[in-house]
Amino acid sequence: MIVSSLCHSRVHCQHSSFVTSLFRRGGVRRRHARHVKVRKCDTLVTSSACNPSTFGSVPTGDGLREIVKAAFSEAVTAVLSRGTLVDVNISECSNNVVGDYQCNSAMPIFAELKQKGDTSFSNPRSLAEAIVEAIPGREHLFAQTSVAGPGFVNVTFSASFLAAGVLDTVVNSTDEKIRIPPQRNMSIPKRAVVDYSSPNIAKASEMHVGHLRSTIIGETICRALESFGVETVRLNHVGDWGTQFGMLLTHLHDMQMGSDFAITDLQEFYKVAKLRFDKDDDFKARAQSAVVRLQAGDVQMRKLWEEICEISRRDFEEIYRVLDISIIERGESFYNEIIPLVLDELVKKGIAVEDQGALCIFGNLESTPLICRKSDGGFNYASTDLAALWQRTTQLEADQIIYVTDVGQSKHFEAIFDAANRAGWLDKKDNTKIRLDHVGFGLVMGEDGKRFRTRSGGTVPLRSLLSEAQSRCLESLQTRSSDLDDKELLEASHIMGIAAVKYADLHNNRSTNYVFSYDRMLDMKGNTAVYLLYTHARISTLLSRAEDQDLTSPAHQMVFTDEKERALAVAILKLPDALRAVVQDLLPSRLCDYAYHLCVAYNEFYSTCKVIGSPEEKSRLILCRATVFSLRRALFVLGITPLHKL
Ligand code: ARG
Repeated sequence: MIVSSLCHSRVHCQHSSFVTSLFRRGGVRRRHARHVKVRKCDTLVTSSACNPSTFGSVPTGDGLREIVKAAFSEAVTAVLSRGTLVDVNISECSNNVVGDYQCNSAMPIFAELKQKGDTSFSNPRSLAEAIVEAIPGREHLFAQTSVAGPGFVNVTFSASFLAAGVLDTVVNSTDEKIRIPPQRNMSIPKRAVVDYSSPNIAKASEMHVGHLRSTIIGETICRALESFGVETVRLNHVGDWGTQFGMLLTHLHDMQMGSDFAITDLQEFYKVAKLRFDKDDDFKARAQSAVVRLQAGDVQMRKLWEEICEISRRDFEEIYRVLDISIIERGESFYNEIIPLVLDELVKKGIAVEDQGALCIFGNLESTPLICRKSDGGFNYASTDLAALWQRTTQLEADQIIYVTDVGQSKHFEAIFDAANRAGWLDKKDNTKIRLDHVGFGLVMGEDGKRFRTRSGGTVPLRSLLSEAQSRCLESLQTRSSDLDDKELLEASHIMGIAAVKYADLHNNRSTNYVFSYDRMLDMKGNTAVYLLYTHARISTLLSRAEDQDLTSPAHQMVFTDEKERALAVAILKLPDALRAVVQDLLPSRLCDYAYHLCVAYNEFYSTCKVIGSPEEKSRLILCRATVFSLRRALFVLGITPLHKL
């Protein structure tokens, strides 16, 4: 039922900021009433006076939380007559009967005023009330605001505001690649280097589950950055240099082996070579000199080295194809020539010093130094990383550099970052600093609570892990009634298997260990990719039954007659918040939470609200369309291909 339009007044408010301008074109009335409780108006919605084109850019740029934050930030700034925006704390209400979001900043701000002897407000509650009064565009934005207890402010979005946002989602784009305009209070790099995946070539020449985490997390971070228009440079810092090659090359030489072997052989050779290296001093010495010869450019060594790299590369490429990853291989060897120059610079700047024959960087806190040239003159992992960081800051001109590895390497990166900072490599012309992040992740555990291994104790090759997930998906799909023929079932199982593995990894907080369980990741009812894909297919099927309907006209009217419709609209409009969290905190799990809650909200809506054939058909179809677009955008960033039919 369309009750009325909330956008009836044309008195512009005084604030000149972004949020205000969001609503200016729609006309915002600023109320100077003393009471704080504003009307609650749920049944309403858009009329053509409240559609997105009237409002200009309704919330495509910002998610709901950021919109509330900006509104409160402006209100507090105005109340305190401050020149620069005051930061506020906004959280979601745990109980949505009270409101959608809350701001608890009145208490700390009051305490601060009191300390400074400012007596403008007698208590935090009166400050909270003044803040509410000063919210720009309050009447458009919120159907209800209330001050509770000592000064907690709760706000409930107006239906017209939510409806405008949902319509905007549908009208403005049909593409799953979301583009979010630059946002307030968010520093976005122009160019980011993301160093991820990065398996080692000779050591464990088959990519294993440890590299899976880096690959999946790194790719999602890249896609999230790109949704804000960041240019990302994906770099695969493969371990293609160093001692392991000395061992392998020496062993192959002793065995008089050419290069006619497979990836699995390479792994076996490495195992034997490592045993020899640890036990046999003569072998060890020869292996070490082989590395020096390789690094110095010995032609024969280089040739065999290249062949070994090529064998691994073919294997990696197959995995990247299955995972839909395209990444530039720029391994450790790439930096070989630069290392001496970079180390020289560090010595000249007094950052690297010789100690017992080795070149060391002493940190401020750590007692053990970072060794950046071994006492035998050889370069190591740290030497390469220093050179790589120098190259990325000075030559690639990155504004942000992200390293995705296991948490075990955090000390290493702390030391590297600290050295780079002291060397001045992070200083930009505009007096800001290049942002460096080590995105650490935990271990993949088996269901027995121990590190994930094969029955015989070896590392689990990624290829067999992925194909196992796919065949389990096929089994489960075959047991369910489906609209798909055999070929389609097989294709769906391939997509679903990969999606399940990716999502099982991404939905955990990355820094903790997680248990790899096929049963859990394939659970249709849990927080899994399978659940998301079924929901996506269900919405797509429903929408395909209404294909002839034009849902994209901005003049459409929406009605929220059921609480579940409103809840779904709120869930939809949080996407930019979720993406922002991924980019700022580098936590892909935030986007998984978004996708999951969106699907839960949709399924609850769908079980209560009839869509096709109901009086609210058009409005509900728009909600479905907005859900499916938003879900697809989230899935795209998570690297998951949506299924349209199941
Ligand atoms: N190859 C390393 C490993 O498997 C990861 C490399 C990460 N990147 C870097 N620049 N250090 O542990």
